[in-house]
Amino acid sequence: MSLYLECSKCGEKLDANKTAQLCPKCAAPLLVRYDLKKIDFSPKKLANRPYNLWRYKELLPIKDDRNIVSLGEVITPLIKLDRTAKTLGFNDLYLKDEGMNPSGTFKSRGAAMGISKAKELGVKSFIMPTNGNAGASWALYGARAGIKAHIVMPKDAPEITKKECAVAGADLYLVDGLISDAGKIVAKAVKQYGIFDASTLKEPYRIEGKKTMALEILEQFDWRIPDVILYPTGGGVGLIGIYKALLELRELNIIDRLPRLVAVQAENCAPIVKAFEEKAAESVMWQNAKTIAFGITVPKALGDFLVLEALYQTNGTAKAVSDADILTYQSLLARNDGLFICPEGAAVLAAADQLLKQGWIAANDRVVLLNTGSGLKYPETVNINTPLLNKEDEIIL
Ligand SMILES: Cc1ncc(COP(=O)(O)O)c(C=O)c1O
Ligand SMILES: [Zn+2]
Repeated sequence: MSLYLECSKCGEKLDANKTAQLCPKCAAPLLVRYDLKKIDFSPKKLANRPYNLWRYKELLPIKDDRNIVSLGEVITPLIKLDRTAKTLGFNDLYLKDEGMNPSGTFKSRGAAMGISKAKELGVKSFIMPTNGNAGASWALYGARAGIKAHIVMPKDAPEITKKECAVAGADLYLVDGLISDAGKIVAKAVKQYGIFDASTLKEPYRIEGKKTMALEILEQFDWRIPDVILYPTGGGVGLIGIYKALLELRELNIIDRLPRLVAVQAENCAPIVKAFEEKAAESVMWQNAKTIAFGITVPKALGDFLVLEALYQTNGTAKAVSDADILTYQSLLARNDGLFICPEGAAVLAAADQLLKQGWIAANDRVVLLNTGSGLKYPETVNINTPLLNKEDEIIL
């Protein structure tokens, strides 16, 4: 069995040829496992492959290429931040711009892999709760695959994500509550109708899509690992995926050490940060969660223990930032380097600056910021105050 599923808690092994959700024994998330001893993967093999995430195929779960559902994914740019770095005092600062993915966020990596595998396994429809971006990506990739999407999201999610679901023909439901409330409604529907549950970590394959962020970063650095990677953490799948890719690359002897991983959250929704500070193995449900970085409004993540393990095992840390700082750093980056990033990405830049000032990051560290989406998906985060001219007016510069 070269590809199988393994429970992240009890180690139970499952067949990967059938759809699976949580571990049937202990209800923990399942992880995709490859027989890494038998896998023939090396950076040299990538030379003539298409420049997109499917190039890492030996480390991905799709068995037959004909099941790949693609919307023209690209390797997202890893941009050196010159003027921002100089302003803040970094010497080697990079931003991985996930805004360049289909639908404008990194969620399309998870959707590309999750939907492709769903197609391979014969899934005809699915339901999922979302903070917006994941639902939009899954609705669009679902449409491309001919798989029906039922999406449940908080009514306060970014408007554009609702429109993406609607235009893709998904059934969209808005909830007067948080993603955790949407999750409860989804769980009831799954129980009642037996529909495939594509909730975060109840579906094992999206991690494999998000894992490709780390594979790309490593390849873009010619397989030399950076010192620190910072990631805006909600459900934490991106961070779990990055850590999983790093472990697999280490087992394949492609890298020999790990970067320090940092989970960034918002001050008003920071369950992972609190758990990390208390050296806990799991987080506690955060009350009254609210932040403009909507994607990371997750009061309790199913995979919190996996995120915390990634932080502990890499000598990483967790950091919370304020909404005011998120807006300040979003604007700082746009003014200095011309990048309009999402509030979640701005949270990461704010956290990096605080960690630099506290000495946790050194000026010469090679630091990678994950900007998980385009600022264009959040036009409401920027206020403009500009005069209205009459046709005959002149401007004085
Ligand atoms: C833009 C953005 N960044 C970060 C996240 C958090 O993702 P994860 O579940 O990987 O922690 C989300 C989730 O909705 C998001 O939309
Ligand atoms: Zn288990």
